[in-house]
Amino acid sequence: MPVDIPKTMRALVENDAETGVTVASVPVPTPHAGDILVKVAYAGQNPTDWKHAAYLSRAGDILGCDFSGFVVAAPEGSGLAVGDRVAGAVHGGKFKDRGSYAEFLRVPAHLVWRVPNGVGLPEAAALGVALGTSIQALVQSQGVALPADGEGAPDRGWYFIYGGSTGVGLVAIALAKVLGYRVATVASPRNFDLVRSYGADDVFDYAAGADAVVAHVREVTGGVALGLDTISDAASQAISARVFGDAGGQLNLTLVPDAAAAALRPDVRLVPKLMYTYMTDEPFTISPRAAPPVTVPVIPGDREFYAGALKRYPDLLARGIRPPPVVLRGGLDDVPAGFEDMKNGKVSGERYVYKL
Ligand SMILES: NC(=O)c1ccc[n+]([C@@H]2O[C@H](COP(=O)([O-])OP(=O)(O)OC[C@H]3O[C@@H](n4cnc5c(N)ncnc54)[C@H](OP(=O)(O)O)[C@@H]3O)[C@@H](O)[C@H]2O)c1
Repeated sequence: MPVDIPKTMRALVENDAETGVTVASVPVPTPHAGDILVKVAYAGQNPTDWKHAAYLSRAGDILGCDFSGFVVAAPEGSGLAVGDRVAGAVHGGKFKDRGSYAEFLRVPAHLVWRVPNGVGLPEAAALGVALGTSIQALVQSQGVALPADGEGAPDRGWYFIYGGSTGVGLVAIALAKVLGYRVATVASPRNFDLVRSYGADDVFDYAAGADAVVAHVREVTGGVALGLDTISDAASQAISARVFGDAGGQLNLTLVPDAAAAALRPDVRLVPKLMYTYMTDEPFTISPRAAPPVTVPVIPGDREFYAGALKRYPDLLARGIRPPPVVLRGGLDDVPAGFEDMKNGKVSGERYVYKL
């Protein structure tokens, strides 16, 4: 049944002040060729949202990446229809006609996943960036295939995740288990049970100090060959590099490599990835307002890889992958307070989700 689409909508937009965001009335986006229009039901919060608001977005850009909602317009041949439940992630904080803290968003039809019956829309809205980032690291970058439909995975030995209680960390633990790994991770003791419930086989307190963490993880695992550092600061990269075995290997990062960590273990490749490369078919700039812009090129095949992975999401959920614990935090007007909480380290082992 056709849906009445208004001309304007409420959205959280950048106002160019430090962490300055405002709920404003803006035009409902016009879908481009191949896009669907989604009536956003829920938007999930990621650290990149407040970072965009504070350092990167320009006046009028719509904030927010993760979303779930209902299709209200779909092109012929997209395989989607009005009323379908979908979820995904867009490059929020970068464009004036895209972003999940908005009543409507446009997104290419092949860059969403269908939310199966039995999966709630709030939970679906908490998965976008966390699962996309995990797949980019553990599957695409580290060259390990998702198990085929209906098949199990071989025992792949130990995998190390620094920061198991982060949103990315929890989902990455669950993905690592689906891929057949035993997982060693670090988190605060208050989150030990949580990371174990996502599948971690071993967890250690990161506050015990670098030497204690390294000794423990090396003793348990015998030294890993693959890992993901979800924190990716200088200290976490140094610790993560040191838990690798004598043959070295690959450590994926969510932020930029640290030169001192790279020098510590030249046999451990530090590989940063940016999930935004999954969402674009043109180069884009990361432009801190106070520094020269960095251009990120199109990575051939990234969008296609991501589109293929999205088709597997219902199966991955059936195999036990789930989003971080969801905390419903109100509506659009409540997002700025959520940004402050996240910025101040008050979001631990959970995802804030807002009802649009
Ligand atoms: N490159 C990309 O495409 C990409 C994609 C997603 C995320 N990221 C980046 O990756 C980082 C993680 O994102 P996220 O959404 O997963 O984070 P998040 O869920 O907001 O992280 C919160 C968690 O971080 C933990 N934490 C804080 N400092 C820690 C430390 N030194 N060691 C271990 N754990 C620590 C806290 O654990 P406790 O409370 O237990 O201490 C808390 O549970 C952010 O910087 C984000 O911007 C990058």
